[in-house]
Amino acid sequence: MALAAALFALPVAYWVHVTSDEARLLRLLPDEIPAKKELNAFAMARGRSAFARRCARCHGSAGEPDTLHGVPDLRDHDWLYGSGRIGEIERVILYGIRSGNSKGWNLASMPAFGTAHPYSRYAIPSLTPRELADVTEYVYSFQHPDADSGAAVRGRQVFEGQSRGLCWDCHGGLGTGDASIGAPNLRDSTWLFGDGSRRSIHASIAYGRAGICPAWIGKLSPVTIVALAVYTNSLWHNTSDNAERADRK
Ligand code: HEC
Ligand code: HEC
Repeated sequence: MALAAALFALPVAYWVHVTSDEARLLRLLPDEIPAKKELNAFAMARGRSAFARRCARCHGSAGEPDTLHGVPDLRDHDWLYGSGRIGEIERVILYGIRSGNSKGWNLASMPAFGTAHPYSRYAIPSLTPRELADVTEYVYSFQHPDADSGAAVRGRQVFEGQSRGLCWDCHGGLGTGDASIGAPNLRDSTWLFGDGSRRSIHASIAYGRAGICPAWIGKLSPVTIVALAVYTNSLWHNTSDNAERADRK
């Protein structure tokens, strides 16, 4: 009899404990969770296993990049969208990027300047092979002082062009990117696509880019989605150089 009672009580106690953790997790603002030690541990455990099942096929087991498929590094401070806060990451997980969900990020994509109709959202002129080579050289010159300076000067005019190129409109006048539309920084050595060689920069500019991250709303529970956001945020906060950067902010 005592044994039966114990067998019954244990799962109930476990159930009450887990569901109250779940309720607390949803009541807090996402960015408040890491400060609550026990709740954070619960979220981290759930987030870690969900990440392995749902995200690792694209983001790797530890959030490492895949520049062949345009998958960003989730371990660094370099965010395409926002600044890596848990609430911002939760939004990406809920609604995705170019996912087809109307609340997902979908404000801009990289036009295909080497094609007859570079962009589906508005008319933007194609670039000639010469202009493509020049603007490639300009972007290449950000990391390579030995780039062809004549071509880079011409490429800068394309980059800053008011009716052609229009690169500045999304990537900023200096090419440092815009985290409110997901336009990457072109000045740093972190590449979303390829290895930063002339060939891969040229491919991005000539053929365009539009990476997709799926939406999970309706497919995963709200608790699992918050837990995933907590876990994903920890991937970059856990690396020591980024922890220092975050402290300095
Ligand atoms: C089918 C592949 C795929 C899956 C599955 C996937 N992602 Fe992504 N994710 C991407 C790609 C590609 C991008 C970059 C999109 C772009 O180019 O803007 C991305 C971007 C992101 C970003 C934005 C990063 C930044 O720098 O702003 C976050 C956060 C993210 N993913 C988290 C997740 C999480 C968490 C999961 C699992 C729930 C997940 N993703 C599942 C492919 C995927
Ligand atoms: C309409 C906005 C828009 C314009 C105009 C635009 N870009 Fe982009 N560009 C983007 C976006 C958004 C991405 C990221 C695409 C993704 O996440 O899949 C991107 C990606 C890139 C990449 C790849 C970066 C990486 O880290 O791999 C390069 C290179 C690039 N753009 C160069 C240019 C140049 C040069 C021009 C002008 C000729 C230009 N872009 C014009 C929005 C734009």
